[in-house]
Amino acid sequence: MTRKSDALSLLLILLILSFSQAIKGVKFFNVKDYGALGDDHYDSSEAFERSWNEACKWKGKAVIKIPRGKFLLRNLLFQGPCMGPIDFHNAGFLKAHKVNIGLSYWVEFRYVDRLGISGSGHFDGQGSESWFKIMEDYPSTNNLPTSLMLTFVNNSRIDNMNFVNSKGSHIKLYGCKNVTITQIHISAPPNSPNTDGINIAFSRQIQVTDSKISTGDDCISLLPGAEDVNITDTRCGPGHGISIGSMGIGPNELAVKGINVKNCNFTDTMNGVRIKTWATKNAGKVAQISFESIFVNNASNPIIIDQNYCPSHDCPKGDSHVQISDVKFVNIMGVSQTYVAVNLQCSKYRPCEVETKNINLKYGSNKGPTISSCYNVKGVASGFQKPPSCIS
Ligand SMILES: *[C@@H]1O[C@H](CO)[C@@H](O)[C@H](O)[C@H]1NC(C)=O
Ligand SMILES: *[C@@H]1O[C@H](CO)[C@@H](O)[C@H](O)[C@H]1NC(C)=O
Ligand SMILES: *[C@@H]1O[C@H](CO)[C@@H](O)[C@H](O)[C@H]1NC(C)=O
Ligand SMILES: *[C@@H]1O[C@H](CO)[C@@H](O)[C@H](O)[C@H]1NC(C)=O
Ligand SMILES: *[C@@H]1O[C@H](CO)[C@@H](O)[C@H](O)[C@H]1NC(C)=O
Repeated sequence: MTRKSDALSLLLILLILSFSQAIKGVKFFNVKDYGALGDDHYDSSEAFERSWNEACKWKGKAVIKIPRGKFLLRNLLFQGPCMGPIDFHNAGFLKAHKVNIGLSYWVEFRYVDRLGISGSGHFDGQGSESWFKIMEDYPSTNNLPTSLMLTFVNNSRIDNMNFVNSKGSHIKLYGCKNVTITQIHISAPPNSPNTDGINIAFSRQIQVTDSKISTGDDCISLLPGAEDVNITDTRCGPGHGISIGSMGIGPNELAVKGINVKNCNFTDTMNGVRIKTWATKNAGKVAQISFESIFVNNASNPIIIDQNYCPSHDCPKGDSHVQISDVKFVNIMGVSQTYVAVNLQCSKYRPCEVETKNINLKYGSNKGPTISSCYNVKGVASGFQKPPSCIS
């Protein structure tokens, strides 16, 4: 070889090197390469932590691969910010320990941008033993760990994932922006306490679509600071339905606004669509809410606003100071389990502003007519109204 061609090939090698450095393509981080065992017994937490730490440092796209197998995990905090986007590709069956760990989360992602959680695997919270303990202590301890927490996570997706038997809630979003949750399946028994499906608080630009949620508590709840949330094509039940609130439990709560629930079904649920506030002097705001094209099949309270929310017998008794306005119920149809199919109990201090259009709810299988009940409601009713509207 001549010196010239030597120099040329050196140049070429340098070029290729700097090019690959610049692209930093996809890199896979298989938890098994970090010591995880999917044998249902070995605790793989440290292996998961090591793979997260390496993946988070990768400047390109990192894919954490969890293959098939049962992986036992204690509580895990996956913290960013990371150098690039990260996919948590879970094809495995992740299992929590049965004992309650006394923390608010089982698996948490915090300060992450461009996270993808996918892979059609499972998160099994193994909650059944802690549920019975919480029953004994009720209502003092209702803060069991959430299976999957996203806190301060932006531009991310949860896609095609299964959640079963969380100890507390299954999924919680807090401080998030632009998160899409799609094709997820959540399942816990109807008598399991506080096993909410998805809680959304202090978060905006959130979408939940094409999902199925069966739990012992709320299907989805929108809590203070939830803003610009769209829930579509989702099936709830059994469980307590989709709830806004409860609001008014503390002072200075952020508003819940810009919530659209569309093309959703409720089967064998306690509620269909609900807004609930405590009867306290804490100010608050619920606005720009729309429930549209909702099909209820045997819900106890298909449409309910409850401004005297009282889950136990010891509640503040006054008038709620939470203002509920610009709430639309449009095209709500199906079967109510009780005869009060539309129940709007608002605050004397702050009457709510509601619009209903095309409501068609019957009572059981031919049990008779349904009725609506209003207290301090302002607004308009139009189109078909069965039961007859009570909005004046
Ligand atoms: C998420 O977005 C917020 C607001 O745009 C920003 O302040 C925060 O740093 C972002 N978080 C991450 C982890 O990128
Ligand atoms: C929202 O996040 C997705 C990634 O999940 C991204 O593709 C999209 O550009 C983001 N949208 C906005 C408005 O930032
Ligand atoms: C929710 O739907 C509304 C109305 O279609 C739309 O303007 C808004 O951008 C959507 N937001 C999200 C987060 O999908
Ligand atoms: C809701 O139920 C109706 C009637 O059973 C069905 O046609 C529709 O596809 C269901 N929608 C969803 C999102 O499951
Ligand atoms: C209606 O739902 C309740 C649970 O809320 C269930 O116990 C009951 O069996 C259901 N009734 C019918 C007719 O499916």
